[in-house]
Amino acid sequence: MGKKPFNRIILIHFLKMDISVVGSGYVGLITSAGFAEKGHSVVCVDIDPKKVDMINARKPPIYEEGLQDILDHVVPDYLTASLDLEKAVKESDATFICVGTPSDNDGSINLKYVKEVAAQIGRVLKEKDSYHVVVTKSTIIPGSTEEHVIPVLEKESGKKAGKDFGVVMNPEFLREGVAVEDFLNPDRIVIGSLNDRDGNVIEKIYKDFKAPVLRVNLKTAEMIKYTSNSLLATKVSFINEIGNVCKRLGVDIYDVSKGVGLDHRISPSFLNAGPGFGGSCFPKDVKAMVHKAREVGIEPILLESVLEVNARQPKIVLERIKMKYQLKGTRVTVLGLAFKAGTDDMRESPSVPVIEGLVEAGADVVAYDPQAMENARQELSGISYEKTQRDALAGSELAIILTEWDEFKKIDFSPMKKMRVFDTRKILNTDLLQKGVEYEGLCW
Ligand code: UDX
Repeated sequence: MGKKPFNRIILIHFLKMDISVVGSGYVGLITSAGFAEKGHSVVCVDIDPKKVDMINARKPPIYEEGLQDILDHVVPDYLTASLDLEKAVKESDATFICVGTPSDNDGSINLKYVKEVAAQIGRVLKEKDSYHVVVTKSTIIPGSTEEHVIPVLEKESGKKAGKDFGVVMNPEFLREGVAVEDFLNPDRIVIGSLNDRDGNVIEKIYKDFKAPVLRVNLKTAEMIKYTSNSLLATKVSFINEIGNVCKRLGVDIYDVSKGVGLDHRISPSFLNAGPGFGGSCFPKDVKAMVHKAREVGIEPILLESVLEVNARQPKIVLERIKMKYQLKGTRVTVLGLAFKAGTDDMRESPSVPVIEGLVEAGADVVAYDPQAMENARQELSGISYEKTQRDALAGSELAIILTEWDEFKKIDFSPMKKMRVFDTRKILNTDLLQKGVEYEGLCW
């Protein structure tokens, strides 16, 4: 970031904002790094001193492509991490709330962390004279900002939202594994606000982003996020159900998806059949939508089915494997543990129920994943792990591919005792298959 002529510095300073971000999980850290990359001055606040130290030492606490590179050139000039929320809010123009919203047992989301942070921000706003905008960016069920966040902010600050301070809802659509890319190149920027003034402040922050800006009200912004994830999850459950039918018909679902996806009204994305969707978003968000729909008196038949089809898919994987292979006492290699490629995340990964079923059937399971084994050890017991694909295949009689890592496109099966493979992601390039390998696909 070389030297700039004086008036350009003033101009840039005028256009660049002082931003505070609370929470350094996926959304919080990527948002902080992304805004800093665009030249804003960002303070990322977290309660975890280890994470704060790591960020200030330019060590990303999560694995995401491109994040290390950004931290290398924005820390400390454009991005610092801090434990001090009060100072960060006092010294910034806007604060993005990016803390977690875990699920409660009934599927509804728990707003306790969001409300705690809103209370802290409210207490700072009480003493702050300049106009400050509070932005909810966590995935929160429609109505949350108006019914829960604003009342807390007004109570703690003694001030009025939309008059003494601003409130905006700005959902994030980044995917794990490509989070930096998605944040810096969004398909759209949704800005829900109480009034134009607040929305304009946040639109200014996104000035250098090349994406359409959609200005709506707070609840609509929240609903756009849930509806997007619910529809994407529906596409996955839909193609998995059709995939199961295709298998019985002897048709390859991926050929079908290709033909269907060419229809511009449908698009080819999220039509890859597999062992079911996982991750920290789809399962949680669809469950929260189901709960909300019931709360407002609508029976969410479709969304319920999306979850049912998804819960059934790992069982169908197991059923297929049990029908075709003897498992008791058989050494079985599982290739891929993460809920999808490109991440070390095991949350709601379909590999967990599949592996638990294999162990229950008496298989001797050995697993390999390029990124997720450390996290998998927390979730899975009674199996062994190998550092390389090759070691994991040694002496094995069946390989099962569960995550679509690129390195599984071409596999040397020769270390196996019996070269048999069951692919649930259609990642293996069967044109390159070694002679003598017995191949089986989930829905093809
Ligand atoms: C998702 C949304 O895509 C993102 O916009 C939102 O902000 C957060 O939730 P993410 O959870 O990272 O992102 O994963 P995504 O890439 O959407 O995949 C979700 C699940 O669906 C994964 O388990 C993936 O394997 C599965 N999937 C996805 C399929 O099985 N088939 C597909 O065609 C696409």
